[in-house]
Amino acid sequence: MTGSRGEIERSAEVAPADSGPDAYDSTPYRAFRFAETHPARIAALARLHGLPAPDPARAKVLEFGCAAGSNLAAMAVTLPEARFHGIDLSVTQIEQGRGEMAASGLRNVHLQAADILDVDLGDTRYDYIVAHGVFSWVPDPVRERLFELVRRHLAPTGVAYISYNTLPGWTVNEAVAEMLRLETEGHADTETRLRAARDSLALFGELFDGASGAHVELVRHELEHIGGKDPVVFLHDELEATSDPCYFLQFVAWAGEHELRHFTDAKLPSLWPRALPKETLRMLAARGLPWLKAQQYLDYLQWRRFRRSLLCHADALCDELPAPQRLDSLVVETRLRPVGDISVAPGLPLRYRLAGDGPEAREVMQVTDPLIQAFMHRLLGISPRSRLFREVLDDAMRDAGGKASEPSRVAILRDWVMVNIARGWMDVSVASRMA
Ligand SMILES: C[S@@+](CC[C@H](N)C(=O)[O-])C[C@H]1O[C@@H](n2cnc3c(N)ncnc32)[C@H](O)[C@@H]1O
Repeated sequence: MTGSRGEIERSAEVAPADSGPDAYDSTPYRAFRFAETHPARIAALARLHGLPAPDPARAKVLEFGCAAGSNLAAMAVTLPEARFHGIDLSVTQIEQGRGEMAASGLRNVHLQAADILDVDLGDTRYDYIVAHGVFSWVPDPVRERLFELVRRHLAPTGVAYISYNTLPGWTVNEAVAEMLRLETEGHADTETRLRAARDSLALFGELFDGASGAHVELVRHELEHIGGKDPVVFLHDELEATSDPCYFLQFVAWAGEHELRHFTDAKLPSLWPRALPKETLRMLAARGLPWLKAQQYLDYLQWRRFRRSLLCHADALCDELPAPQRLDSLVVETRLRPVGDISVAPGLPLRYRLAGDGPEAREVMQVTDPLIQAFMHRLLGISPRSRLFREVLDDAMRDAGGKASEPSRVAILRDWVMVNIARGWMDVSVASRMA
């Protein structure tokens, strides 16, 4: 649901409706796609942890709560031999999606209108199972059943992706949304509910403008976040009757009851602990905390509101932390772009910044290590970006030569790449990615 949103690919008008089980029939959700759910990326993260995740190119992929299937369609286009199955409670969204698949000629996506609570998946085992923006918005029995279905239908070395709203970061949203729900209670049609919710938000804004106190900054930030939302997303995210965030460790324990194990997050710095500030790591290490518990502290520190857990079977062989040597068989891409002259000049620092013009693109990174410079030079020169890390590394080692290619320098490069993956500045995959 929340977190990074993909591009909005079509518009959905806000239609008259109550909140409730048929809310998505009356007001279909926006068509998002989530690059982090792509099997090629999930497989790469799993393989970094030593889990031999199935080949995405011919994978069977299941998505729960797929809405009209926009996320599946985006993945299916890039993996024509893989098979995609989407399930959603909303008949309207499924029919809309089927129409879109037929119109675009996509033949490897099957959409099914069904309830997670009683859907029958027969004996099928799926290599990848995705549930994005569902878990925190459905009642407990549906969540129980979701875990149960994942356990039963996930292939032995398959991976499930489940996203959810987390505490403590979601606390303020929940507090504001409670008031919005109170104000919109009893209003029969969507337009009236939206108007009442906006009025309430406006009052919040007036009250908090100029207010003081330790909580004010947090509430203001949340009001800004909620106020900037698309009306359809706002309607479902904030005004929906069921919204149940949880702590990371609660989610991990719940998954554990179903013999499923969280092995990493699909999009967090904690993917590679060395991406965290040294002092933070030192404090956590000094207490000898298990890594899972340390991550719960990090959720407090970062006031985290959303997670994307990757799960495998509890008995699958999968390491707690990724091993940088396993980068070798993966494709690495980078969002970093050179600033100024890109020719490799030994001894001189090279500068990079993120592609795009967002605020994070202002940060400039300086690279002085000759092997990393040579690696970046090779990586940025690749088109199409489909060479393995090992191949790029071999080229870079030849370019840099001598001492720059000693094992200790290669280890530094691998660590640097892992840090950048954890920061979201580089990415890994095992096959071609969605365009
Ligand atoms: C907030 S939308 C998320 C859609 C999409 N996954 C995304 O994140 O953009 C939640 C979806 O879950 C579906 N859903 C809710 N309860 C369900 C259930 N019991 N069984 C199947 N789908 C369900 C809704 O119909 C809706 O399309």
